[in-house]
Amino acid sequence: MATGAAVTLRLMTESDLPMLHAWLNRPHIVQWWGGESERPSLDQVVAHYRPRVLAQEPVTPYIALLGEEPIGYAQSYVALGSGGGWWPDETDPGVRGIDLSLANPLQLNVGLGTQLVKALVERLFSDPLVTKIQTDPAPSNQRAIRCYEKAGFVQHALVTTPDGPAVYMVQTRSMFENAKRAAQG
Ligand SMILES: CC(C)(COP(=O)(O)OP(=O)(O)OC[C@H]1O[C@@H](n2cnc3c(N)ncnc32)[C@H](O)[C@@H]1OP(=O)(O)O)[C@@H](O)C(=O)NCCC(=O)NCCS
Repeated sequence: MATGAAVTLRLMTESDLPMLHAWLNRPHIVQWWGGESERPSLDQVVAHYRPRVLAQEPVTPYIALLGEEPIGYAQSYVALGSGGGWWPDETDPGVRGIDLSLANPLQLNVGLGTQLVKALVERLFSDPLVTKIQTDPAPSNQRAIRCYEKAGFVQHALVTTPDGPAVYMVQTRSMFENAKRAAQG
């Protein structure tokens, strides 16, 4: 980006929920975040995304910033015990999953998503208990798949989730540390 500002993350708060509601109704996010049938009302966003509610799942919500500008939503979750048909075979308590979307359709495809994924991965692996990070884009979401690959994920398998088919992508702690060592020369 021409601004030269870095993408950073802060925890989402309740005061961000009206902004999140507006974002989750934008067509470029609706397309990949549940579809038209899941287009949420403000009440639904407040009921579902309030940080206290997400913490019970447990999901941690973040707002991505470019400098001071909020540019996207991200969340991480503990895969083990997700319930609702999600990740029933997981046995490792150290696995975290991630989901994210950029808010502004004019900011897609310029590398911000890759920066955001890298920032989130760095943050999650700063917890020594985290062994692996997973994500599950739709097979047709080639932009997201490519973005995750650029941020160090590899495609592991095609899986069926409660939301439909997905590409199960992973980055282990050793992949993360090896890439870091290689980048440092
Ligand atoms: C997915 C998302 C976070 C990625 O962020 P982004 O900033 O747009 O992605 P980046 O610019 O970092 O990387 C995108 C890559 O995909 C490539 N790409 C874009 N469209 C593509 C397509 N149809 N097929 C293959 N590659 C494609 C881009 O060329 C770029 O790769 P390159 O740098 O090697 O050229 C963002 O696009 C987004 O929020 N999309 C809408 C919601 C969404 O899909 N959320 C994810 C749900 S899993």
